Amino acid sequence: MSLLQLDQVTAGYGPVQALFGVSFALGEGEVLALMGRNGMGKSTTIRALCRMMPLTGGGVRFAGQDISGLASHQAARLGIGLVPEGRRCFAPLSVLENLTVAARRGPWDLARVHALFPRLKERSAQPARTLSGGEQQMLAIGRALMTNPQLLVLDEATEGLAPVVRQEIWQAINRLKADGLSLLIVDKLLKEISQVADRAVILERGRPVWEGAPASLAPDQADRWLGL
Ligand SMILES: Nc1ncnc2c1ncn2[C@@H]1O[C@H](COP(=O)(O)OP(=O)(O)OP(=O)(O)O)[C@@H](O)[C@H]1O
Ligand SMILES: [Mg+2]
Repeated sequence: MSLLQLDQVTAGYGPVQALFGVSFALGEGEVLALMGRNGMGKSTTIRALCRMMPLTGGGVRFAGQDISGLASHQAARLGIGLVPEGRRCFAPLSVLENLTVAARRGPWDLARVHALFPRLKERSAQPARTLSGGEQQMLAIGRALMTNPQLLVLDEATEGLAPVVRQEIWQAINRLKADGLSLLIVDKLLKEISQVADRAVILERGRPVWEGAPASLAPDQADRWLGL
């Protein structure tokens, strides 16, 4: 049985429809990449499944339950942990406060997050707003892990980060995968995400147009759906 299943999801912003029937499933322990060019509906799909916006049609199931009508805090409590686009740490709070404010009981605790991202331990007392982009992403991931999610959703895992920092983030994601965590990851760099994702779904104007193992995406398809 799938951990997460979207079935013909439609959603939009007021009169502007953004999703036109998005369906895909994510299995327990699977790493799924959600890809597509700018404005194709990746973040909207994530907002819909994290219950941050209403569905206008279709449904979302998570862990055997229909969550289509739930509020975002209820979806979070069921075990969907989100690292949103733009990272959105609580800027005035310290790194430590950011991590502990949303903590819920489970295998992920401060010691484990610090082991994954030693930098966050060193920066504990610093306000989040003083962190570099890469450190903010580490903090956003750490904060989501502290909620002990069953599914970790990352919208733009490495956007805007320098290559060496991106590698650090991918290494951490690989460790989470090895640990058995289920992951849904948005990222634009096919080459990098291919090394961690088991499967990819590509969106084009709010519709899935391709699904498969990233390595099986032909160059002309990558160009058509992911090219600039
Ligand atoms: N808050 C909003 N209000 C109105 N329209 C929006 C809003 N957010 C997104 N849209 C529109 O919905 C469509 C899908 O946007 P979405 O943010 O989901 O794309 P995306 O694939 O995440 O793009 P990006 O790669 O740039 O993050 C786009 O046409 C976009 O202009
Ligand atoms: Mg987006």
